[in-house]
Amino acid sequence: MTAFEAEFADRLELTPEAQDLLFREARTANTFTEEPVTDEQVRAIYDLVKWGPTSMNNQPLRIVLVRSPEARGRLVEHMSGNNRAKTSIAPLVAVLAADTDFHDEFPKTFPHAPGARDLFAGDAGRREDVARLNAALQVAYFIVGVRAAGLAAGPMTGMDASAIDREFFPDGAHRTIAVVNIGHPGEQAWMARLPRLDYDEVVTTV
Ligand SMILES: Cc1cc2nc3c(=O)[nH]c(=O)nc-3n(C[C@H](O)[C@H](O)[C@H](O)COP(=O)(O)O)c2cc1C
Repeated sequence: MTAFEAEFADRLELTPEAQDLLFREARTANTFTEEPVTDEQVRAIYDLVKWGPTSMNNQPLRIVLVRSPEARGRLVEHMSGNNRAKTSIAPLVAVLAADTDFHDEFPKTFPHAPGARDLFAGDAGRREDVARLNAALQVAYFIVGVRAAGLAAGPMTGMDASAIDREFFPDGAHRTIAVVNIGHPGEQAWMARLPRLDYDEVVTTV
């Protein structure tokens, strides 16, 4: 942390250690050790990040944990270039998709508005837009949750997403948003840290 960053880090409620774990020290891993990622860890991650907000509480994210060698092979085939090797060897790979039929869950997720489901029922285009936006938010929450579990995530969008949809979601109602490798970082797990835009380049006040 630079002195400049440290001055502002003090203004946050989260401890500096937690800030490091979630953001400053957390890196996008490209290699992994063989240490497994358990279902219990994934459950703990989901049970934390499910509280991240979505519009109308619509929660379109659906997660497929790709564990069997057979399923892993079917997924890797649709990953592009350098993504293939790391998706083959990661201890766990998750396909994160948007369910465009999220509105069917409204009786549970938005129970105080009985008409909510019908607002979306006849408009597949709107459902697709809403599902993609909110599932992408949930992908971000998921990545931060992986880090909160002391694990590293390697999110990827370099893939044939439509082919993965066909392979893993034959109902035709899901759209793959990202594939995420998960595990403990291995040897030479990351590239050089790339610069981030500064506050003044990003934030304006009107
Ligand atoms: C949505 C998303 C898609 C990404 N897709 C790929 C990908 O297809 N292949 C890849 O090697 N890295 C991919 N990355 C990794 C980014 O390049 C990396 O997270 C970014 O450069 C920051 O790296 P750092 O966390 O080590 O600072 C992706 C990251 C995100 C968040």
